[in-house]
Amino acid sequence: MIDKATVQKITDTADIVEVVSDYVHLIKRGRNYVGLCPFHNEKTPSFSVNSVRNFCYCFSCKKGGSPVNFIMEKEGLSYHDALLHLAQKYGIKVEEKELSEDEKRQLNERESLLIANEWAANKMGKALIDTEEGRNIGLQYLYQRGVTDEAIKKFRLGYNLDSGHALADAAKLDGMDLKSLAEVGVLGVSQKMADSYYDRFRGRVIFPVLNPSGKVVALGGRDLKGGMAKYINSPESAIYKKSNELYGIFQAKSEIAKQDNCFLVEGYMDVIGMWQSGMENVVASSGTALTDGQIAMIHRFTDNITLIYDGDAAGIKASLRGIDMLLAHKMNVKVLLLPDGHDPDSFARENTPEQFRDYVKRHATDIIRFKAQVLLKDVGDDPQKRVAAIESVVSSLAHIPDKVKRNVYIQECSRILGVREEVIEGAVEKSRGVVIEQQRRQRQTSEINRLDQNESNPQPDLSKQLRPSKGREISEKYPYYPYERNVVYHCVRYGIIDFCEVEFEDGSHGMLNVAEFVAEDLQEDNIWFTFPAFAKTFNRILDLKEDFQNDNVTFNVNLEKEKKEMLKTGYDEIAAKDLSMEEIRRAERLLEDRINEELAQRRFEFARYYVEQKLSSHHDDDVRKTVTEAMNDEPPLSNIYIRNNPISERKMEIDRMKMLVPRGVLEWKNEMLNQMIRAKMKQLDNIIGRTSPEEEQKILMETQALMEKRGQLGKVMGDRTIGKKIK
Ligand code: UTP
Ligand code: MN
Repeated sequence: MIDKATVQKITDTADIVEVVSDYVHLIKRGRNYVGLCPFHNEKTPSFSVNSVRNFCYCFSCKKGGSPVNFIMEKEGLSYHDALLHLAQKYGIKVEEKELSEDEKRQLNERESLLIANEWAANKMGKALIDTEEGRNIGLQYLYQRGVTDEAIKKFRLGYNLDSGHALADAAKLDGMDLKSLAEVGVLGVSQKMADSYYDRFRGRVIFPVLNPSGKVVALGGRDLKGGMAKYINSPESAIYKKSNELYGIFQAKSEIAKQDNCFLVEGYMDVIGMWQSGMENVVASSGTALTDGQIAMIHRFTDNITLIYDGDAAGIKASLRGIDMLLAHKMNVKVLLLPDGHDPDSFARENTPEQFRDYVKRHATDIIRFKAQVLLKDVGDDPQKRVAAIESVVSSLAHIPDKVKRNVYIQECSRILGVREEVIEGAVEKSRGVVIEQQRRQRQTSEINRLDQNESNPQPDLSKQLRPSKGREISEKYPYYPYERNVVYHCVRYGIIDFCEVEFEDGSHGMLNVAEFVAEDLQEDNIWFTFPAFAKTFNRILDLKEDFQNDNVTFNVNLEKEKKEMLKTGYDEIAAKDLSMEEIRRAERLLEDRINEELAQRRFEFARYYVEQKLSSHHDDDVRKTVTEAMNDEPPLSNIYIRNNPISERKMEIDRMKMLVPRGVLEWKNEMLNQMIRAKMKQLDNIIGRTSPEEEQKILMETQALMEKRGQLGKVMGDRTIGKKIK
């Protein structure tokens, strides 16, 4: 853990313009900068960087955020690693917080395993180039297979000398921890002689496997002598879960995002072959079927995946495996079959890069169309096979979450399979129910686990009837979600700005800021945020008040100093001109007005952007995400006037805020009343004639009371038909 003060220092220091400039050529435009979006391919710039708010945003693909967010997204790093990345860029020394003994042990273990692997990869990389054996055998082999020096460097390829104990000896010399080296499988421990280590990868060419942050988590070693195992790989360890890694992801990730597509191949050499043909957005699953973890990793960078297989029978079969899982992850899946007997590596060697890329363009086929075609080919006249084929396609279709997309496919498959559309549609809908139920159960389990780990909701005294219990909260979704979101977004924008003056019970007066006003207003009716991410974010905004008051004092002191400076320079300039007394007085008044207005604007902006500035780099994923989304969601209105007419802009925004915030709360309450009234009416329907008249009367009265309340709400809002839907 990085301690709070250091996190603060990093997020305060990291400058969005500087951070983004490492990846994007920025051009200044007014108060902002623009450039080509680094997250998707584009020809006209839609990526905007706001230096005042320390925030970036792509108007087209909607990615962006604070410097930390940008680095997380761009480098595919965790929150923690993104902070380290920025700390390094700015030379900030990071003191990791004291950990528990257990955490320390785990961290130390991981760390020492990573060090062991890094050391080994390094040694073997050197051995490939700097030793005669490495050059004659390892390098010779790679050259023969057409691997370039550039690829060798990029993929950090290496060679393990064949003596059997070259690495073990070097490790002792370098004072490395032999146990760690054995644990990651670089060294083996001899059965016969205790404490005697040997090189597990002896005589092999080495392919280091890097995780998305570029750490060596495993090694693969290619045999050169026709031995039994073509490849041996690192065993699973605290730093290596085979099913969670993808070979090449570190080298490919930014290109995957840029091309908005990821090629998936089988092996080490295939990745290198494609890379050398100019298709750098490529990773390998290392010969096994794709897992959920691997799909999620790819999904961080793109929605589109193209599977590449050998066109032989085994390749076709393999390409059909696991497609349901990809579809369920909302990935758009294509498949590309290479000519029979080819893998990407051999194909790359026999074709020019242009030919290869052209082949890819022409032959990539949508996976479902492909599946239907392949299965149909097999069917022949066998009716049973035909049914099985249709069932199999139906099952894949049922995994597509998007209905529109599903229907397009249903039409197409109906054509390919020669089955009426309604028949397929019926079967898909039925099967879809099963799929959804399965997924819901899976989600529920993980959601419950997640909520259990989260801080408990810090508003325990609020009425239970309006705040569903945890279990229902999860399963019933959140009926007021859009209303809650609307209000929490307003609070991200304006939360810390003074809203109104109140008189407390002891007769004293004070100011409520916007968030506090909202909190009071909600509690009056025993309402609170039900969606956990919003509740958390809102509480964090409330917590900011004290910090803000302190920071605001400092801010104003500095501003006053600046004001004096500005006035002094301005007076001097006026004095230097040859003006009459009258003109001087007028010029001075203009100067003072201008400065006062500018400072008022800056005071407003300080409060206006305080919440986002403090929370857009918050460590909690939910909070950071909510704040970033609120910032992205901002109505574009504010940028139009700001340059020419700050006065009306500021007043306009405050006016708008004073109207929008209470309205947001009212709309939420109104919806709540609507739902309660509907429930009461339903209850009434059910019991009428089946219960005592007194009971009926009671519920009727309750319904009427609710309706009356809704009527009052409508009046407050100055509009009785407030059914305006928020999307
Ligand atoms: P392949 O047998 O297709 O190997 O296995 P390859 O990558 O084409 O290697 P070359 O071209 O013969 O040198 C595909 C992938 O399966 C894993 C490796 O990740 C390999 O790249 N594999 C294969 C192993 O881990 N062990 C093996 O013994 C074989
Ligand atoms: Mn191969």
